[in-house]
Amino acid sequence: MRFNNLSRLVLSVGLAMGSLSAAQAADDDVKMGFIVKKPEQAWFINEQEAATQLGEEKGFEVVRLAGEDGQQVLSAIDNLNSQGAQGFIICPPDVRLGPAIMNRAKQYGMKVVTVDDRFVGPDGQPMEDVPHLGMSGYKIGQQVGNAIAEEMKARGWDPEKVAALRITNYELPTAKERTDGATDALLESGFKKSNIFDAPQQNTDTSSAFAAASPVLSKNGDYEHWVIFALNEESVLGGVRASEQYGLSPDQVIGVGINGSGAAFAEFSREKPTGFHGTVAVSSTMHGQQSAENLYQWITEGEKPPANTETSGTLMTRDNWEQVRKDLNL
Ligand code: GLA
Repeated sequence: MRFNNLSRLVLSVGLAMGSLSAAQAADDDVKMGFIVKKPEQAWFINEQEAATQLGEEKGFEVVRLAGEDGQQVLSAIDNLNSQGAQGFIICPPDVRLGPAIMNRAKQYGMKVVTVDDRFVGPDGQPMEDVPHLGMSGYKIGQQVGNAIAEEMKARGWDPEKVAALRITNYELPTAKERTDGATDALLESGFKKSNIFDAPQQNTDTSSAFAAASPVLSKNGDYEHWVIFALNEESVLGGVRASEQYGLSPDQVIGVGINGSGAAFAEFSREKPTGFHGTVAVSSTMHGQQSAENLYQWITEGEKPPANTETSGTLMTRDNWEQVRKDLNL
């Protein structure tokens, strides 16, 4: 019994010392988390790496974590707190987790900024009080639509015989903005509205896009040509792979994605062109660095970052991808 009490005492002194040193460390050292919904995707790997590098230059630490569902995000936040982090950057697995994530962060007094996917509050509106940096979705979507329209013209396709595979994710506002922008630009170019077919995906990756696309292609076998668009290039690649499996050849397909990440570089590096014509590249390096810089300023200077920063993109194709990659520091 006595021994037990003693060991309890030792334990609590140890804990108190532990929290003291964590608090002291917090005064000198800036540590921030970078939590992403898809840690295996090149876009997010690059974003986290860019933030880490900036930290090495400026003297702060970035802890890279995966948050593929709500539970994993909450344990990542607990983990960050026990490491003495003062805040985190997050691209959430589901934007509707915003209020729950903010509750947990507030318990720990952590500062939070979102990147790419913006939190949505209980009223269905963006959570304006959480600083955000992301693509200007509608404009970038328009660039996708225009790129497809131009390529259709260059190939001399008859609009009557062209169908569009629109891979959608309407639960995610930035995804809807992007496919809406692409749709509007296509319609303006004279694309037939009745030739657009929806393939709703469950997620924002290649396999969910492939699963969504396959039945849409087989149900609409009367078209000579297909154009493919989605919220990102990973999903367009899923559509392109489905078109190949269905038996369409690369010259029958124009897929244009968004991101300009390693997924696109790998596709452009193939010996022969595929139906993946291009992608609107945005600098994931800049997204990662700027979000980390914003959070760092907030932690060290108390300067809250702007409510919303919207970034722009450049069309990248098989012909110019290496140059665009350099220009965007990717
Ligand atoms: C979303 C997409 C990513 C990427 C980012 C860019 O999170 O899922 O692939 O396009 O937006 O902001």
